[in-house]
Amino acid sequence: MNAEKNLGIKVNPTSNTAITTLIMLANAHYEKALEILEQMGVEKETIFHGADPSDMVNRPSDIVRELRYVALNRTIEESGLNVLMDLPCGYTPKVFEFTEKGMQYIGCDLPAVINDFSPIIASMTNDEQKKMIDFQVVDVTNFESMKAAADKAKGPVCIATEGLTIYLTSEETKQLSVNIRRILAEKGGCWLNSDVETFDYYMAVYKAVAGDRAMELLIKARKGFSGQSDTDLHKNKASYVKNSGEKMSVDYGMIEAQYKSRGLLVEKIPYYRDDIKLRLFDAMTEEEIKKLKENMKHVNVWKITVDPDFREDADTAVPSDIPIDLDLPFGVKSSFHDGVLELSIQGRMDTLTAPEVLKQFQEAEKGVTDIHVDVSKMSYVSSAGLRVFLIMYKSLEDKGRFKMTGINSAVREIIDLAGFDQFF
Ligand SMILES: C[S@@+](CC[C@H](N)C(=O)[O-])C[C@H]1O[C@@H](n2cnc3c(N)ncnc32)[C@H](O)[C@@H]1O
Repeated sequence: MNAEKNLGIKVNPTSNTAITTLIMLANAHYEKALEILEQMGVEKETIFHGADPSDMVNRPSDIVRELRYVALNRTIEESGLNVLMDLPCGYTPKVFEFTEKGMQYIGCDLPAVINDFSPIIASMTNDEQKKMIDFQVVDVTNFESMKAAADKAKGPVCIATEGLTIYLTSEETKQLSVNIRRILAEKGGCWLNSDVETFDYYMAVYKAVAGDRAMELLIKARKGFSGQSDTDLHKNKASYVKNSGEKMSVDYGMIEAQYKSRGLLVEKIPYYRDDIKLRLFDAMTEEEIKKLKENMKHVNVWKITVDPDFREDADTAVPSDIPIDLDLPFGVKSSFHDGVLELSIQGRMDTLTAPEVLKQFQEAEKGVTDIHVDVSKMSYVSSAGLRVFLIMYKSLEDKGRFKMTGINSAVREIIDLAGFDQFF
């Protein structure tokens, strides 16, 4: 792994999850998924795990991914829009499915993914296809990066989200919806979010294949995957499956009201259609297929559009009590003397900018006994930035020697909400 990718993965390990989705699609017989994996140099033996009916780890996970993929793709097609902004794209074969249907494809993801994926797709496409494909480095909390992606669109956009929000903090999820409203208000189109009902489409599959053991097996599977991202580190109010096995309920009414308060309207599009067909039906019994079809009647992709009557309110307006210019460009200054590393950070510290702070820390790391971080000019910190602070904090023998000064109210709220107040 090159140094840049290494830093990127450290500040936001969720990029690791993209390859798992791809492997699952290859196991559901999506040839292009397999071709992408081959281009990535992944050994064939490590890709296929077989479809043994008694396998209660891989088989349901594969079905879950294919179900979501099929339901979302069909909803994208039905949107009638000509531009797909895939947010985040991971290493998805969607790029082929939709360019073949004549749609412009804009793949958006973190640098660790885009820097790998875009040359692979370039090597797998002809000149005609290339004209329809763009890739853009995006951090969904960063409006400018999202706007740069949307500006490539040659018309109203269909923004599609699959497998993202469980990795975001509640503050980041809010930022995502505020950013999407701004994009849709300018470009027109809709946002198709298959993530809101994550718990329900997982349960639809697990109940069909495992009956009463569904919850227990789902928790087990979830634990198995948690090593890929370290999102257990922060509090995510949207990650509703409690590992303790507590009874679950998701307040969809509240989520819809939150969207409404951010200027977005929700329409629910059911996963179910009479003619729905998964390739993995081949690996399921008649009874399992029947149950799955019944269960998926209660699961929806959320189609989200701009509320024409929306007026900016307290939930989306820029807070007025922050004593700094929120548009300050990102920058970090550091000095190191007598074991004391002083850092001064300005602007947004997110997945795109946090690697620079980590780099400056790593250059000094040896011999650092004290770390003083001045954040008085920092306008925003995402979980990636908090992760970097945590790496620095943990590196110190005496944790009391980590000092953060100049914390403004917006940054303090993010730190508290994400549960990082326990460290700093
Ligand atoms: C489970 S993968 C899903 C990818 C793709 N939608 C698919 O179904 O194959 C999650 C993706 O979210 C991306 N991601 C996580 N946090 C992000 C952020 N703040 N901004 C943009 N992408 C992010 C990761 O890099 C990863 O590629």
